[in-house]
Amino acid sequence: MSAIRQSHKPRRIFAPFLQNCQAARPLLLFPLALCFAMLALMKASPKQAPRKLNPATELVGSIAARLDRPVVLVGLMGSGKTAIGRCAAKQLGIGFEDSDQLIVKTAGISIAEIFELAGEVKFREMERKTLRNLALTSPQIIATGGGAFCQDATADLLLQHTLTIWLKAEPATLLSRIGNTKTRPLLGNGDPLATLTRLNEQRARLYKKAHIHVDTDGLSTHRAMMALFHALDTHLPRQ
Ligand code: S3P
Repeated sequence: MSAIRQSHKPRRIFAPFLQNCQAARPLLLFPLALCFAMLALMKASPKQAPRKLNPATELVGSIAARLDRPVVLVGLMGSGKTAIGRCAAKQLGIGFEDSDQLIVKTAGISIAEIFELAGEVKFREMERKTLRNLALTSPQIIATGGGAFCQDATADLLLQHTLTIWLKAEPATLLSRIGNTKTRPLLGNGDPLATLTRLNEQRARLYKKAHIHVDTDGLSTHRAMMALFHALDTHLPRQ
């Protein structure tokens, strides 16, 4: 008898619970039905297209991934080596250096003062040493002084260890970009346009040795930077 009573014990315990469950069934079914409805909706709605990258972002990312050495900008005064180089480095997420600015920082006096006090030969020596140190670094953008690439030893060094880019522009464009010619010792002779025209004729054959040529004439800094990116994209091997 006690055994029979014992076998009814669980039923007595669970009976109220089961009754409660039955009462709560609609409450339990509602969230379940909601889940099914949401799943059905998700299936029915068209799949979202993967977000497309901005083509410029894609280009910049691809170039940054393929650079294995510093990019050195060469060309006449006013060709945009510093302005374009700084913007391009920012976009690529790499460093930027300006050889003239480093020389000024080391010497503690301006380029014009170095020319005046120590002479151009001494300046070229400082320029070569500065660029030798920069050439052996990881990918970054380096703006050079306009005459740096016209010194054979410096040009050989840069051609061997870096990717050199000649930023071209017409003398009148160069002059309009330079503004204050007093900071350029070579333009202090009273006729800067004539000097730039002469330097352009003398130096073009040397700048031509650069690995890449980019014509920046008539282009804003941003457009010139994009022209530089397209030239780099064409030049760098695909991985
Ligand atoms: C020079 C260009 C200058 C500067 C120096 C000599 C040149 O640099 O290095 O006045 O020989 O063309 P920017 O090209 O940056 O003006």
